[in-house]
Amino acid sequence: MAFTGQKLLLFVIVVVGISQVLSRKLNDEESNTIIMLERHEQWMTKYGKVYKDDEEKQERFLIFKKNVEYIESFNAAGDKSYKLGVNHLTDKTTKELKAYLNGFKRSQSVSSTPTTFKYANVDSIPSSIDWRTKGAVTNVKDQGDCGSCWAFSAVAAVEGIHALTTGQLVSLSEQQVVSCDIHGRDMGCSGGYMEGAFQYIWKNGGINSDANYPYNATDSVCNATEEASVVAQIKGYEMVPANNETELMKALANQPIAVAIEADSMFSYESGVYDGPCGIELDHGVLAVGYGTENGTDYWIIKNSWGTEWGENGYIRMKRGIGAGLGLCGIAMDASYPTA
Ligand SMILES: *[C@@H]1O[C@H](CO)[C@@H](O)[C@H](O)[C@H]1NC(C)=O
Ligand SMILES: *[C@@H]1O[C@H](CO)[C@@H](O)[C@H](O)[C@H]1NC(C)=O
Ligand SMILES: *[C@@H]1O[C@H](CO)[C@@H](O)[C@H](O)[C@H]1NC(C)=O
Ligand SMILES: *[C@@H]1O[C@H](CO)[C@@H](O)[C@H](O)[C@H]1NC(C)=O
Repeated sequence: MAFTGQKLLLFVIVVVGISQVLSRKLNDEESNTIIMLERHEQWMTKYGKVYKDDEEKQERFLIFKKNVEYIESFNAAGDKSYKLGVNHLTDKTTKELKAYLNGFKRSQSVSSTPTTFKYANVDSIPSSIDWRTKGAVTNVKDQGDCGSCWAFSAVAAVEGIHALTTGQLVSLSEQQVVSCDIHGRDMGCSGGYMEGAFQYIWKNGGINSDANYPYNATDSVCNATEEASVVAQIKGYEMVPANNETELMKALANQPIAVAIEADSMFSYESGVYDGPCGIELDHGVLAVGYGTENGTDYWIIKNSWGTEWGENGYIRMKRGIGAGLGLCGIAMDASYPTA
């Protein structure tokens, strides 16, 4: 087939058009990469990140870029009750973060044994509560590169009941639990259970302060001297009857409660009321410190242990009243608290 003059002109226009689009696209990509490289540098400075070599830096940059692009497209869609944001975790993959941040171990075959529930007969609870405003919650901590969330969750619950019974808010030692509660199913930075931590603290006759036995995110050998020097005690622990958000509210209306959730989709949470997506494969221990309602949306207030750069100054609000009793991300499945 021979080109007529008109067809040839059309062909040329199309080819030139395509190549212009292609070159513009490349330039956009290039300038995006340059902007992103600059953002990565600024982010590194902000969080004091140092990589061991250029290869690692390049690898981390690509993860950072992918995460930032996801965060921005999620926020641009603007159709959710929460926002994502860049934080100190943005150069890591979900898989890596899951490996060391989600240290709660729950095997389907070993479920929690029901215990007595001291709040069973509570019949009147406030419409909202926030234990942070009542001096029962210490500052947000950071578990670092260690799967010790279970220890942070349990220790925070002990800090709460200790404050409520003695009037003294003392930051207690997660490191003691990580290093010394090495019996049974609890395995330091490789994960554990809040119930195991309560049992340890109870049997040990109490727990030392964070000031005396400070946290350093390692499986260091238990210091028996510090272990024996306790500043807070508990008399045992109880489970909240499982899979019932009303029961969880009754308990939470009386003290901060250790809860387990599936948290592997929350690493970039920044603000608002989180409503998923998440399943019920419980992988993270945190502390419920209250509940409330905003614009008709009910939520739980959760203290995390990923530092204050994450979420709402270290906290997340999670939607309450969904999940058919299990609660969003399984929050009502495995809740427990120490007694004093
Ligand atoms: C509640 O409304 C305010 C103002 O419109 C808005 O900024 C906020 O995001 C809303 N909160 C939720 C959970 O929808
Ligand atoms: C962590 O603290 C323990 C003492 O509790 C110490 O033996 C260990 O060397 C420390 N490790 C790091 C990496 O700082
Ligand atoms: C335990 O802690 C005490 C007091 O902080 C310290 O003097 C001692 O060296 C520690 N023991 C071990 C084995 O690390
Ligand atoms: C949840 O517990 C309350 C008592 O606090 C009870 O009335 C209700 O039936 C329970 N709901 C389910 C689904 O078991």
